[in-house]
Amino acid sequence: MKKQFIAGNWKMNLTLEEAGNLAKRLRDELANINKVDVGVCPSFIFLRDVCKILQGSKIYVGAQNMYLEKSGAFTGEVSGVMLKDVGCTHVIIGHSERRMFFQETNSIINSKLKTAYSCDLNPILCVGEKQEERDADKTEEVVGIQLSEGLDGLTSEQVERLTIAYEPVWAIGTGKTATPEQANEVHAYIRGIIENRYGKDVAQSIRIQYGGSVKSSNAEELLGQPEIDGALVGGASLDSDSFLDIVSVAIKLS
Ligand code: PGA
Repeated sequence: MKKQFIAGNWKMNLTLEEAGNLAKRLRDELANINKVDVGVCPSFIFLRDVCKILQGSKIYVGAQNMYLEKSGAFTGEVSGVMLKDVGCTHVIIGHSERRMFFQETNSIINSKLKTAYSCDLNPILCVGEKQEERDADKTEEVVGIQLSEGLDGLTSEQVERLTIAYEPVWAIGTGKTATPEQANEVHAYIRGIIENRYGKDVAQSIRIQYGGSVKSSNAEELLGQPEIDGALVGGASLDSDSFLDIVSVAIKLS
């Protein structure tokens, strides 16, 4: 069984002090963690402080987004080079909120993935269908296109380092969760696509997280599914107790 990967997506939440306290508590509570990989994704402006707090710990720090160029006249943007420079190891790419509110297309996401690799960052690529797409039985079609266009031109070595987060849009921040079976089914479909394109070894080593209203009360049934290799946690990652509970579930299952 692969090591589960539990990542917290803090989104546009917390103050500097709250982010620091949360990071310190995770550092102290998870000092000896080795069965499960854990990461946090604070907003850009807290990354440097959180990286400093977690330096020397086993907790990864990722950004929630980055720009597709490495430097230049792009007012207001943050580059992968900068993320790497302050100590990030990971970056979330193509979150549904980026796709929805900031018009990110699969082609932009593909460019961002390529830039992330060239900056030596490990991307977490988010895919997932909207409610109306699920209702129209288009989940596989939508996720299939997100993957084929998103991963276009990437090498097997790059894809092997990728984490994919399957996040049905209708389950994000809504309290609605995909049933463990629904999630497992899409995860298996995603792994099948990876196997077709990059071979069995890559498909077996890639980690596919589930995301969408994961909390301590549903973590066990979700993480217990054979195709689910971790979770991308939004709301429940903002509270240290509830995030630590989810990590404990992953440790227990490992
Ligand atoms: P949620 O968010 O856990 O609050 O539903 C998950 C995500 O968007 O990554």
